[in-house]
Formats: sequence, structure tokens, C-alpha cells
Amino acid sequence: MAILFYSELDDPTDWKNAFNTIAESIPFYIWPNQPDNEEVEIAVVWKPTSGILKLFPNLKLIASLGAGVDHLFYGAEIPKGIPITRIVDETLTEQMVEYILMATLFCHRNMPIYISQQHKKQWQPVRQPLGRNRIIGIMGLGVLGSAVAKALRNLNFNIRGWSTSQKNLEGIQAYTGNDELKEFLTEIDILISLLPLTPKTENIINADLLSCLPHGSTFINGGRGAQVVESDLIRALDKGYISHAFLDVTREEPLPKKSELWLHPSVTLTPHVASITDAFSSSKQIINNYTRIKNGLEPINLVNYLAGY
Ligand code: GLV
Repeated sequence: MAILFYSELDDPTDWKNAFNTIAESIPFYIWPNQPDNEEVEIAVVWKPTSGILKLFPNLKLIASLGAGVDHLFYGAEIPKGIPITRIVDETLTEQMVEYILMATLFCHRNMPIYISQQHKKQWQPVRQPLGRNRIIGIMGLGVLGSAVAKALRNLNFNIRGWSTSQKNLEGIQAYTGNDELKEFLTEIDILISLLPLTPKTENIINADLLSCLPHGSTFINGGRGAQVVESDLIRALDKGYISHAFLDVTREEPLPKKSELWLHPSVTLTPHVASITDAFSSSKQIINNYTRIKNGLEPINLVNYLAGY
């Protein structure tokens, strides 16, 4: 029995230390240095290249290194019937809540305007609405979306939520499915996306959707870049329909040098850092799930193959 680690993005050192501490008797190999494919029973992966997961005949668990699992459903060729788990962890949730609060307050308190004024040495207060008079719309009400909704609600913002399946959260006006999307979007001052990437949500933030938002609203993306038609967003920013976009994710990452998003005056960019998986707490979850599978139990945070998240 061995663990195989594959990620071109994450430094394996923390993960190696974490697994060596939590499960010291289990060998930990870093792709492509596993001596024997038959030994591998747990694959801990981020964006595994096409087909590699099919090389391990005794694989029992595919564990995503993050909360998102779209990297497994888009081109990774996963072997059928092997349980896939994602990371749900309070440290991931806390970081996302921090990030979205930071971006929301940045937009709410007119920071894009003040930063631009500072560069021009302009001292010019602008009208500041109260949080209770701002409507914030959150797309995606899963673990992260509902924690963000609660935190923003505690700051007195007016919260609406939209999700593909019905969700009821206290103090949050909930909208469901395509039929209620337009109604959800009208009146929103700040739109936040925390959706998982699936065929249903790919390109969902497009010219049509953006045109349903009130003129001058802002957009924050902590979900996935492929949910946004970037040329439509840039057009909406150029015309001022969207006054600012705060993006942690882009369709292609790293963002290509030629992208207009880099230097757009109405865009704030961060390099997919909103929420970083903690190796220690996550490796505990992964080992616990492996033990559950060995004991005939369903792993925790199991991914639904059909829904794709
Ligand atoms: C990060 O994007 C994650 O999916 O955890």
C-alpha cells in the first residue's frame, strides 16, 4: 500500500511531511517516482494529466488536493468506480470567507475609485451607502458560499443566494435554477461567484447574465475562471456596466501575458490564492477516508460523479 502525490502546482514537501507524520508506515511517492504502480492505493492529485490515474490497478481512493474537483472531470480520464473525495476543511472555508469579505468590502467602500483618485492626487469623497442598503448576490450556496453568506449577513449586508438545487439558509433570500436566475440578478450591487465548475456552470457569467445586473455593479470571482466569458466581462467593464471585477481565478492559469485583464483599470487580480489547502488537516481526512473505504464505509466528502462536484 502506498500514496501517490501528483501536482504540478503544489510543493510536495508539506504533503510529504504531513503524511509521514500522520501515517508514517505508508510510503509516500511523488509522481513519476513510484517504484511500483501496483502498490499505489491512494492518489492525492491536482490536475493529473490525462490517463495517469488508469495506471494504478489497485487504486482505492482518488483524493483531490482542493475543494474543487473540476480538474478531474475535465480531461483527466478517471478510472470508473473509484471513489473521489474533495477537501472540505474549516481552514479552507475560513480563508475563503476572509478573501470574499476583503473583496466585498473593497468594492463596497469604493476602494477602486479611491485608488484611482490617489494616483491622480485627487481628494474627492464619493457617496457611501450603508451595508444594509447594498444587495449582495452569491452564486453557489455550498459549504463555502453559505459560510460567506453568513459572514456578510453578520455585517448587515442584504444577501441573496442562487444555486442549481434548492437551498434554505436563514436570513438569505434563495433563488434556484435557470428559471429564477434573472429575478435573482436584478438589483444586485455586488455579485459573488463561488460555484463549482460543471458543464452547467461553464460560461454562465456571460454577456446575457451581466446585462441583467444593475448598471455599475461589481463582480467577484472566487469560483472558477471557466465560468466567465472573459471577453464579455471585459466589454461590460469597458462600457461601465460592471464598474469593477475582483478575480482570484481566470480561465487559463497562470493568466496569459497577452490577456487584457492584467492591465484593465477596473480589474483587481490575485493568482488563485483565496483559499489554500492545509496539508496537515487534509492528509488526516484522506487517511481517515481510506480507512473508511477499507471498512466498507462511504468516504466523507465524497464527490457525486453525476453532478460533477
Ligand atoms: C481551490 O481552488 C480549491 O479547489 O481548493
